[in-house]
Amino acid sequence: MRWSHYFIPTLKEVPVGTEARSHQLSLRAGLVHMLTSGVYTYLPLGLRVLARIERIIREEMNQAGAHELFMPCLQPLDIWQKTGRDKVLSDVMIKFEDGKGRKMCLGPTHEEIVTDLVKNFIQSYRQLPVTLYQIQTKFRDELRPRFGIVRACEFIMKDAYSFDRDKSGLEKNYKKMYQAYINIFKRLGLQTSVLSADSGAMGGDVSHEFMVAAPIGEDVIISCDQCDFESGARDHLEEKQACPECQKGQLTKQAAIELGHIFQLGTKYTQSLGALYLDEDGKLKPIIMGCYGIGVSRVIAALIEVHNDEQGIIWPAEVAPFDIEILPLMIDHDETMLLSESFYQDLSEQGFAVLVDDRKESPGRKFNDADLIGIPWRIILGKRALSEGQVEIKNRRSQEVIKVPKDQVIDKLKSLLA
Ligand SMILES: Nc1ncnc2c1ncn2[C@@H]1O[C@H](COP(=O)(O)OP(=O)(O)O)[C@@H](O)[C@H]1O
Ligand SMILES: [Mg+2]
Ligand SMILES: [Zn+2]
Repeated sequence: MRWSHYFIPTLKEVPVGTEARSHQLSLRAGLVHMLTSGVYTYLPLGLRVLARIERIIREEMNQAGAHELFMPCLQPLDIWQKTGRDKVLSDVMIKFEDGKGRKMCLGPTHEEIVTDLVKNFIQSYRQLPVTLYQIQTKFRDELRPRFGIVRACEFIMKDAYSFDRDKSGLEKNYKKMYQAYINIFKRLGLQTSVLSADSGAMGGDVSHEFMVAAPIGEDVIISCDQCDFESGARDHLEEKQACPECQKGQLTKQAAIELGHIFQLGTKYTQSLGALYLDEDGKLKPIIMGCYGIGVSRVIAALIEVHNDEQGIIWPAEVAPFDIEILPLMIDHDETMLLSESFYQDLSEQGFAVLVDDRKESPGRKFNDADLIGIPWRIILGKRALSEGQVEIKNRRSQEVIKVPKDQVIDKLKSLLA
């Protein structure tokens, strides 16, 4: 991609009214733009990050045996009335009447919709188990949208739903999803704590939250300084308390962002919506359900929150919008531009995602923007090094610069990025 033909509207100044580092950087790096409070456009660079996150999630969900579908955001309210969640979620649900006078809402989540779907098609134990998932927009009229895309009114969630004959089937599926989540967050470059949680408005018994420690977090991780014990706020609010596990350590408290939440729902939704199946013994039974969410758009913010420095974002390799950025500093210099173009062609052919900053901007501006948008590797084509037949390769995270003869750049990058 050539920056001069692309759309990365970077900002020099910190936008007013922003406190969270991730909020500031996501706006300044041209990843997102606020349309109105809690509602964001994903700009091309932000969308590339989103696509890479989604790809990892899809790979792990498919690997775990879940099947992707795509359900509507536009939903008739009567389905929600059957489970009573039109009331439970009334604060966040966006409701309205359509032109024909039908009561509708924009889905804040999809348990009701997927249960209604499954009820239509699953009649027999032979059709179970099945796990379905989607990556879709959710709408929640959050009272206090916060920190940009961390708590938005329109956001992207991966939500999966498992359907089983019995509790042991549910437990097996739950374990599979739990493991998929561990894999996903590891690949995303996020160190998560898994806390058993209160299942709140979802109902059901067992549930776990996947948390990332970050100063802006609205949740907490309580952990022991001596053993592996970790807990959410609900059971261990007091920091000074001794660790209930090892009895020796002290508990400490960290702010955390919730990125994922999984639940063993049981029959709460299948019962009230009549999603029953005929079991082997000839009896009609409610299908047993689990649900599994990841705040996909919130993951972008969490990544930035964890991976940044004074100058900007430092993307982990697997989610970076581009792998390599080429910086030709003298755009009026023929040798610079020819070399830049040949690196661009060769690296693209090798399968790398490459951005070239070919704008008519000062080297200072290019360096600042490169630090801001945080591409992991940079090739700098500067006057002095080039006169010695060399270019510089810089690592965004370590800031380390190495000089490489210009004909060895491709091989060097191939080995660095392997
Ligand atoms: N308003 C929001 N903006 C962005 N992401 C959200 C928002 N609400 C929830 N999420 C993400 O969706 C995931 C699943 O949602 P859920 O557990 O139903 O939300 P909550 O914990 O707010 O009730 C959460 O773990 C979080 O990552
Ligand atoms: Mg939750
Ligand atoms: Zn302990």
